[in-house]
Amino acid sequence: MSFLYKHKKLEKNSILLLICIIGAILVGGIVEIIPLFRQETVIEPVKGVRPYTPLELAGYNIYIREGCYLCHSQQIRPLRDEVARYGHYSLAAESMYDHPFQWGSKRTGPDLARVGGKYSDEWHAAHLKNPRDVVPESIMPSYSFLSRHGARLHDIDKHLRAQQALGVPYTDDMIKNAESDAASQAHAGSDNQTAMEERYGGPLNVRDFDGNPMLVSEMDALIAYLQVLGTMVKFTDYEPASATNTAGETQ
Ligand code: HEC
Repeated sequence: MSFLYKHKKLEKNSILLLICIIGAILVGGIVEIIPLFRQETVIEPVKGVRPYTPLELAGYNIYIREGCYLCHSQQIRPLRDEVARYGHYSLAAESMYDHPFQWGSKRTGPDLARVGGKYSDEWHAAHLKNPRDVVPESIMPSYSFLSRHGARLHDIDKHLRAQQALGVPYTDDMIKNAESDAASQAHAGSDNQTAMEERYGGPLNVRDFDGNPMLVSEMDALIAYLQVLGTMVKFTDYEPASATNTAGETQ
């Protein structure tokens, strides 16, 4: 009972209570948050996840510039309805090279985490030019100007370098070849394809994305980015490292 009596002091003295509350939150916070600073201990590496190619990175930059994240999320939660609609729930590793991440907090339009390969390039080009041409009830704005603007590639190597500084494993070889890789990814049958696939370690989408071979447009870059979303991990051979990192009933 003497313990309860001591507690009485706390209950009657609001300043003392406040100090104790702050102390308790601090201890809890330190225990929970400090381990997360060592990111490599919380993200389980998954086979297939690679850094974006320069053209995809240019598309990612356009995605951010145009504020696509204001209407689209890129995170499929481990809930039955989400998985049924969008596919396998998102793994942390799938967005480990997104700086900043594009998880989003608003879904005016659908989640895009696995939109890669869902539609043809022509569909995307038509949809971005005028969404109502392919989805009559759509309220998404038109981005037709993207096909008239050349993608900004002259300094894309600097973007790779900045991402490298943030821990994305771009090699110096990737950075050196960034501009020419970006241009050649937008041309079907590019001589550079094998070299590029070796650099990035896997098959890449190399083709004219927007249907205009005369210009490597912002539309090319954005579609290259959309077509790779959610396609890096092959879920046919993916196995979680431990059963405890999946939240209950998920598939
Ligand atoms: C004002 C909100 C809004 C903005 C901004 C927006 N979208 Fe959308 N988007 C939608 C809506 C609503 C849909 C569903 C109807 C449709 O398919 O057009 C959609 C659908 C899509 C789809 C088809 C998804 C699927 O699985 O069917 C893609 C791809 C897409 N948007 C990409 C983009 C990109 C890229 C941008 C930025 C350049 C963007 N959106 C900006 C609202 C938006």
